Amino acid sequence: MRFLTIDKVVPGSRLAKPLYGAQGVILLRHNVELTEAILSRLKANGYTGLYIEDEISEGIIINDFVDEGLRLMTASRLESIVNQNGNLAEMKPLISEIVDNIIANGDVEINMQHLLGHHEYTYLHCVNVGILAISIGIKLNLNRDNLIYLGTAGILHDVGKKFVPIEILDKQGKLSKEEFKLIQKHPEFGFEFLADSIELNSVTKVGVLEHHERFDGSGYPRGLKGEEITIFGRILAVADTYDAMTSDRAYRNAFSPSETVEYLMGTGNQLYDSGVIDVFVRCVTVYPVGSSVELSDGTQGIILSNYPDCVLRPVVRNIENKEIIDLKNDPSYLNICISKIIM
Ligand SMILES: [Fe+2]
Repeated sequence: MRFLTIDKVVPGSRLAKPLYGAQGVILLRHNVELTEAILSRLKANGYTGLYIEDEISEGIIINDFVDEGLRLMTASRLESIVNQNGNLAEMKPLISEIVDNIIANGDVEINMQHLLGHHEYTYLHCVNVGILAISIGIKLNLNRDNLIYLGTAGILHDVGKKFVPIEILDKQGKLSKEEFKLIQKHPEFGFEFLADSIELNSVTKVGVLEHHERFDGSGYPRGLKGEEITIFGRILAVADTYDAMTSDRAYRNAFSPSETVEYLMGTGNQLYDSGVIDVFVRCVTVYPVGSSVELSDGTQGIILSNYPDCVLRPVVRNIENKEIIDLKNDPSYLNICISKIIM
């Protein structure tokens, strides 16, 4: 199987994984033939990409890092609780399930393709930040209780945005000074909103307050520096930035995982905690299995597998002749590297 943006899927292709609706219910089953009518309906509903099965991607298996139904159901539950002022502590069983899911999946690479368009993005982004934060927390040996507190902070990190008018959040043009200041208040709004919830741990609330603090003191709301920022705040800053950059937004296209990792590595200890970045780049996949890439000699291929100790030089299958290109171990490819991900 491989991942293709929806514009590249040809009618007649078969769906390689079940496709879920925004509520986490199955919309299309695995192996369904994608007709022109189905494809245009999916496009109209905001789907941006699909996993398909075809000859060139035969034998490639892409495992979900977190069960896709669980991820979408968590986003949908979060949306209804936040919109109806429900009890946020009700998210705990789903967050525990996500923690267990990530622990059980062990070494499955982080591979969360953004299948849905940006209008479905807000709550899914919150869940993704929770998932990424939990993954970093596992590598930092946090215990299960702390992983749940951290995942909760990730999922609720932007809850304060509900107090910022939607016209300002969605504004396409330049924001005025006042509008920008109001947006920058969302961590405090979120903290105040959660303050009275006795079921939520204080480390969760502080994590929400600090997710826009930056290591060099340039962040907000308090301009904290280095380890004045709690470990939850430092982890959430990295998880939030990564998921935001790798998603399409109304005003720009997504950056690839490799561009985003490069950006984060380049800013280590300036904007972010380099200890957290080091851990993060070891759990995120720069070139996810099943994605299409172009090599520096112009060859196009599909990623077959990755070497955890050498993430920039995976094994690739040539799209034209199916030849295997082992960028790490085959000396004849020493001078070749991946130049870009083909979206
Ligand atoms: Fe935020």
